Amino acid sequence: MGDPDATLRFPHRHILGIAGLARDEIAFLLDLADSYVDQNRRADKKNAVLRGRTLINLFFEDSTRTRTSFELAGKRLGADVINMSVATSAVKKGETLIDTAMTLNAMHLDVLVVRHAASGAVHLLADKVDCAVVNAGDGSHEHPTQALLDALTIRRRKGGLEGLLVAICGDILHSRVARSNMLLLQTMGARVRVVAPATLLPAAIGRYGVEVHHDMRTGLADADIVMMLRLQLERMNGSFLPSIREYFRFFGLDYAKLGVAKPDALIMHPGPINRGVEIDSELADDINRSVIREQVEMGVAVRMACLDALMRNAPSNAGG
Ligand code: NCD
Repeated sequence: MGDPDATLRFPHRHILGIAGLARDEIAFLLDLADSYVDQNRRADKKNAVLRGRTLINLFFEDSTRTRTSFELAGKRLGADVINMSVATSAVKKGETLIDTAMTLNAMHLDVLVVRHAASGAVHLLADKVDCAVVNAGDGSHEHPTQALLDALTIRRRKGGLEGLLVAICGDILHSRVARSNMLLLQTMGARVRVVAPATLLPAAIGRYGVEVHHDMRTGLADADIVMMLRLQLERMNGSFLPSIREYFRFFGLDYAKLGVAKPDALIMHPGPINRGVEIDSELADDINRSVIREQVEMGVAVRMACLDALMRNAPSNAGG
């Protein structure tokens, strides 16, 4: 894909968040990802744009789809990929995040994909290492490749993002997916609403420039896209909800609540889904409405695009 202007069009060393990405840079990644969707649907899914490069997946939090899709993305681009399981690494012996990263850095890797429970941890690490760093989710801060794959899914279904009305519903407070999506969708010209109980909204939601709703009937009215979020119970200490059953009654998505959205509104969810908690099980599997599986497919293509774009700018990591 030797595009001579690529460095100018995506001039970043790392992908740490959607904050800091310009509209044309996001469009560049999505266009590149489109070409990888085609490649991934062929019998031969590999090219060699990352040949000789080394990618390490460093995940301090659980993950199924994000980790697997980064692994597949690296392999389909011809890189050597290593998955570091923190459960069996020296982190368990007390090694700090930075020491672990510096140890890996000494092995001349080219890309470090990091997920960590602390917001800001990935930025901290990016300042210390020589390689490119991709944020695969840091606490409740950002998850840029998720927002990019959501945007790719929407763009391919709706033809564009400009002017669409997107309702993001549920646990906004703890969600890095919501944060990255609010930034990306508005940068690309979509209108964003958040729909949640007051206890699950950040105090500073006013700064995001989104419309705030506490009722699914008004929040979903005329929406083109309904994006549901998982209740991040692992990030809740204290009581945010009266009960799960109450939550589903008022904020869980079912056919009745979806009735006020546009007739062709698409349903999205980053996964993992809690069936019957934030979304009705049948609706989640309804191929006429739900694009949840397509989001997973787009995830591999978007991660290939991110790795490709970063490596076009990166010299080989031959330094000591
Ligand atoms: C999301 C995450 O980890 O932030 N999942 C994902 O990456 N597919 C959302 C979630 O865990 O609910």
